[in-house]
Amino acid sequence: MADTSDKDTWVKVDEYFGALLAPQDEALLGTLTANAAAGLPAIDVAPVQGKFLHLLVRIAGAKRILEIGTLGGYSTICLARAAGETGHVVTLEYNPAHAEVALANLSAAGLLGRVQVKIGKAIDNLPLVQQEMSAPFDFIFIDADKRSNPEYLEWALRLSRPGSIIVVDNVVRGGRVLEAESDNEDIQGIRRFAEMLANEPRLSSTALQTVGAKGYDGFSISLVVS
Ligand code: SAH
Ligand code: DHB
Ligand code: MG
Repeated sequence: MADTSDKDTWVKVDEYFGALLAPQDEALLGTLTANAAAGLPAIDVAPVQGKFLHLLVRIAGAKRILEIGTLGGYSTICLARAAGETGHVVTLEYNPAHAEVALANLSAAGLLGRVQVKIGKAIDNLPLVQQEMSAPFDFIFIDADKRSNPEYLEWALRLSRPGSIIVVDNVVRGGRVLEAESDNEDIQGIRRFAEMLANEPRLSSTALQTVGAKGYDGFSISLVVS
């Protein structure tokens, strides 16, 4: 068969596997509807990506989860469901309008009991998260302002333990991660973050490119080894 790897095909393949393996229930569909109605940007993880995060959490048996970048809570729902009834998600969101929509979506999903949404700049709330936490986080998902990825990685190391997993979204950005001379602060943040991964002896890491409904991007994944 000829290679049909154009954007239109990526979307259709995402829809194909999404329908088979990550069908969206009322809560997830309702989240996308509510997000659109409130004018939130459609930059949530795709259904198959949400299921990927969900499975990683379950594979790790993670119960204590930290998310940086809530938006309308689509990924939060995927993470909180994976954490199970005894699990907990702390999610950080700068934009109060996003947080408000997320709270309503999490409420409709019946997950408010296991999710705490902290409103404000993540960099301001992370010290509070550290003070309040009773044990290190098992799983950390970083998906906010990309320019701050280096700082978020430092915090993730502080708030985790050997065996914890750190996943970062949007590390490819259509290939722009290669632009060493880019004057875009987000690209520079992703590049500095990638160099930190490479030079951090406490982490074993890789990065994977993805195509799909969200275009061409990717995730990094790190295991805290010591
Ligand atoms: N994880 C979500 C998508 C997050 S989009 C999902 O997949 O469903 C990125 C979010 O990060 C946006 O809602 C944006 O408002 C938020 N954000 C941007 N800068 C931030 C900051 N400094 N601190 C916390 N959140 C921030
Ligand atoms: C953007 C942010 C995201 O988290 C994402 O998944 C896609 C795009 C953005 O800021 O453009
Ligand atoms: Mg993202």
